[in-house]
Amino acid sequence: MSDRVYLDHNATTPLLPEVAERMSRVLHEVYGNPSSTHAEGAVARRLVDTAREQIAALLSVNPREIYFTAGATEANNTALIGTVEEARAGSQTAQHVVATAVEHPSIEAPLVWLDAQGHRVTRLPVDEAGLIDLATLDAVLAEGPRLVTIIWANNETGVIQPMAEIADRVKACGALLHVDATQAVGKADVDLSRVPADLLSLSAHKFNGPKGVGCLVVKTGVECAPRSLGGPQERRFRGGTENVAGIAGLGLAAQLASADLEDRMQKYAALRDHLWEALTANVPKLRRNGDVTAMLCNTLSVEFCGVAGDVLVQSLDLEGVAASAGAACHSGSIHPSHVLTAMGRSAEEALGCLRLSVGFGVDEAQIDRAAAIIAEQVAKLRELDTNR
Ligand SMILES: Cc1ncc(COP(=O)(O)O)c(C=O)c1O
Repeated sequence: MSDRVYLDHNATTPLLPEVAERMSRVLHEVYGNPSSTHAEGAVARRLVDTAREQIAALLSVNPREIYFTAGATEANNTALIGTVEEARAGSQTAQHVVATAVEHPSIEAPLVWLDAQGHRVTRLPVDEAGLIDLATLDAVLAEGPRLVTIIWANNETGVIQPMAEIADRVKACGALLHVDATQAVGKADVDLSRVPADLLSLSAHKFNGPKGVGCLVVKTGVECAPRSLGGPQERRFRGGTENVAGIAGLGLAAQLASADLEDRMQKYAALRDHLWEALTANVPKLRRNGDVTAMLCNTLSVEFCGVAGDVLVQSLDLEGVAASAGAACHSGSIHPSHVLTAMGRSAEEALGCLRLSVGFGVDEAQIDRAAAIIAEQVAKLRELDTNR
């Protein structure tokens, strides 16, 4: 795999060597159950507690506000269903939930479920640049929703919502604010002392930690019912023996992200901008998606006019470049991305989009190689299309 160029870091990232080494040591040496009162249990418990502190430091929250999960999907489900159903149990009335039209499926599916349970769901539209309109948010907040959930940085386009302004508004109206910060953590400054959200979801594998582990932050005083009932783990919020090695890996990945966030952001942005320059110099008829002034440092979403994105992804893969299309495959057929169509792209335009995301391990020589391969494959597919 060494000569391949991996440009799909928004799908998942490689483990940092330090994280892999720490996890391997834990897997080999620490077998205690963190709930056990003996010495073996205490060693495991200390690792879990250390990870809680490392994440708390990254996000500026209290370690007691962190609850480990199996990733952001579980954290998002718990945040939405836990807060809304808790509020219904207390008031015996259906609740109003507000989200954007460009959420990840792990938010969208619980929204559909809540809607089916009789709650009301409002989806805020986005403009051509992928941003919500704050005046529209104000108008919806005037209706007194219980919960507002916002994707901090979009997984497909990298567009970052104006979180500080959103948080001020949501807090002023007394609603709860949940942020899906899965793509933002480790690639943007996610600091809850600056953005006072009530709940936050993240997933370790998006910032060079392991897969299948993440956490939900629930600020002190926020009422959220547990979704996984069982033992006393996570202060009875999430029953089940902890994934100790995964949690230790998540904690270290968070600490490493805190230590060099600025450097990472600069390096990724330089690589991403270099890729865009090389593409614009060599490929005609390109269009970039999203507001470039409010965008994750590592993400480039591009429409290659007249090319089918999924076919391009396959031909790039054969040539050694891993990327992702602006389309989703459901039951064997290709659908345009709901994120891109919400931004006003036609189905055909959305199907011509590619997501290129850089990260750890990518260098400038790889970017040059990838740009040349993309230019060659786009030209080939366009040529085939005109000859058809
Ligand atoms: C914005 C966003 N939220 C949630 C998730 C779900 O994360 P996981 O699959 O690790 O549970 C993802 C993963 O792609 C994501 O990009």
